[in-house]
Amino acid sequence: MSEVYYLDSHCHLFSEEFQEDFDEVIERSRKKGVVFLNIMCTEEEEAYRAMDFSETDRDHISVSYGIFPTDAEDAEKRWGELEKIAEDPRCTCIGEIGLDYYWEKDPAMHDLQKEVFARQIELARKLNKPFCVHSRDAIQDTYDLMKAHHWKGLMHSFSGSAEMGREFVKLGYYLSLGGPVTFKNARHAANVAREMDVNFLLTETDSPYMAPVPVRGKRNEPSYIPHIVKKIAELRQMKEEILAAVLVENWRRFRSLQ
Ligand code: NI
Repeated sequence: MSEVYYLDSHCHLFSEEFQEDFDEVIERSRKKGVVFLNIMCTEEEEAYRAMDFSETDRDHISVSYGIFPTDAEDAEKRWGELEKIAEDPRCTCIGEIGLDYYWEKDPAMHDLQKEVFARQIELARKLNKPFCVHSRDAIQDTYDLMKAHHWKGLMHSFSGSAEMGREFVKLGYYLSLGGPVTFKNARHAANVAREMDVNFLLTETDSPYMAPVPVRGKRNEPSYIPHIVKKIAELRQMKEEILAAVLVENWRRFRSLQ
């Protein structure tokens, strides 16, 4: 067992890509010390399975559930079930919620996405739980909305500039970095890793997507987190173990809503 503990703030472990070898994936991540897992769920049934699994290790495993931006048109139909899951004490975070103008080009749908995003932030506030944000090709609208509906949240796979990153941090939001920080062409992610206040950084895999170098292109899994931490530590000229401990501390603070 590793002496250093790591955080994966965003992994879709109950997606079908992990159905075959779920136990092995968990075992590999434990061996690497990646014990803090935030399991993201985009469907109701997934959320229930993840919440049951979280009971095996409530101190380390969190579950997030929310209506994904491109599913905004189903929000009305799914709202009752969302509230029920969100109120469950085993669901610790609302997400991933947000705006996605990359997959959705219709401006009328962007308005609906904003409405559903805002409504879910307000639900998080009501339940005193943090939220996790997905934002793609919509960073300014995301920022404006998170400023207007200010609450405790994190930006998953933050891909904005360091300048934009600082604006989110000023509002108390956390920035989570994943595989792209290890990619040569992801200039923004490297700058964010290097320049942000370290107390507002988190790490994630976004498993099964976005595997970091040197396993880029493979199915991603939490056991690859050390590659990401190593890269951020290099960029910041910090010791990897110290950075890993800071990231875990950030996550505890984020989760406890202090
Ligand atoms: Ni995700």
